[in-house]
Amino acid sequence: MRKEVVLLPGDGVGQEIMKGARTVLETVASEYDHEFVFHEHAIGGDAIDRYGVPLPDDTVKACEAADAVLLGAVGGPKWDDMPADKRPEKGLLGIRKRLGLFANLRPVQGFGPLVHASPLKTELVDGCDILIVRELTGGLYFGEPSGRSEDGQSVVDTLSYTREEIERIVEKGFEAAQMRSGHLTSVDKANVLESSRMWREVVNEKAADYPDVTVEHQLVDSAAMKLITNPKHFDVIVTENLFGDILSDEASVLTGSLGMLPSASVRTDGVGLYEPVHGSAPDIAGQGIVNPLGMILSTAMMLKYSFGMEKEAEEIERAVSQTLADGYHTRDLDVEGGKVVDTEGIIGKVIDHLSTESISNSICSS
Ligand code: NAD
Ligand code: IPM
Ligand code: MN
Repeated sequence: MRKEVVLLPGDGVGQEIMKGARTVLETVASEYDHEFVFHEHAIGGDAIDRYGVPLPDDTVKACEAADAVLLGAVGGPKWDDMPADKRPEKGLLGIRKRLGLFANLRPVQGFGPLVHASPLKTELVDGCDILIVRELTGGLYFGEPSGRSEDGQSVVDTLSYTREEIERIVEKGFEAAQMRSGHLTSVDKANVLESSRMWREVVNEKAADYPDVTVEHQLVDSAAMKLITNPKHFDVIVTENLFGDILSDEASVLTGSLGMLPSASVRTDGVGLYEPVHGSAPDIAGQGIVNPLGMILSTAMMLKYSFGMEKEAEEIERAVSQTLADGYHTRDLDVEGGKVVDTEGIIGKVIDHLSTESISNSICSS
């Protein structure tokens, strides 16, 4: 298969992790006789520096024409004092909105060799497998009005949703639960927010269409607590934009590092965007030590969801898993007796496990 992939490395560690994604995809292409054509474009602070805006039109056009988009990360202290419209993060929010990517799927799946890397008790995290379905193009991130009054003495951000926006993400949550173990937790703040009360209403209405899914509602504050005291309680979590943002970083603690989490931003059909959950990690950028596995696992999600390449995606996941089983990891993971390698080192180990020989061994042994 020939696929056109837009690469948006962005800022900070974005360039370093994108190199890993690209190398992995090139290896998959040669092993499976595919052709991935890469088109690199600017976004975020990098685009501000080069073109004066965080999301150049060329970048949007390229993404719209692509089969899929991979994004590294945006943002950093250099641009933190820019006006709201000229911040790197506006580029990311803009591309999500322009592509209509209303559903952000964030799997939180622990790898066996990393159970001790979590600061949480092993019996809590061992075998935990959660999917956070985060609404991505509405809520506080996009509501109007938003800004500062002329005298600079008051500010406003607006949390708004239409019923239709809630319906389509809730449906995604139910569909995901149906394909997994059939349990959906809807997270809201219905004791305070009108938007959450409508959210709850929609979930209850939709539940009738999915009789095989058990549904529960959980307030976001106690959900945050339960996520790290009893994570195995959860299967699929569906929630609004900001709650999903916060809960997914929290949930990454279950896996040992924020650097492990991949994500897929999708709409009902059409182009998808794949990116790790973490940010540009300015504190470690340029040192060659960033964990690229969240980015690499995002390429696996791209192969599966955008290209229907299930087998190839599984091979990437297997290669990551075997690399960790061999004891290799980057320094963000605290594994007793493990072997700390740098970014290039871990990418190299994953590639070794993707090579022809290891793939044929895995086929023979399966
Ligand atoms: P962050 O996710 O960049 O980093 C939080 C902490 O986790 C840091 O200590 C960092 O070193 C560490 N970390 C994150 N990813 C890692 C990885 N792959 N390997 C090893 N360590 C890793 O969050 P932050 O520091 O709050 O934000 C920094 C910048 O990133 C901000 O400008 C923010 O807006 C931006 N951001 C961008 C995205 C995105 O582009 N999708 C996501 C989150 C934050
Ligand atoms: C994420 C990030 C973004 C978000 C920021 C950088 C706009 O935190 O992708 O999780 O809040 O969506
Ligand atoms: Mn976030």
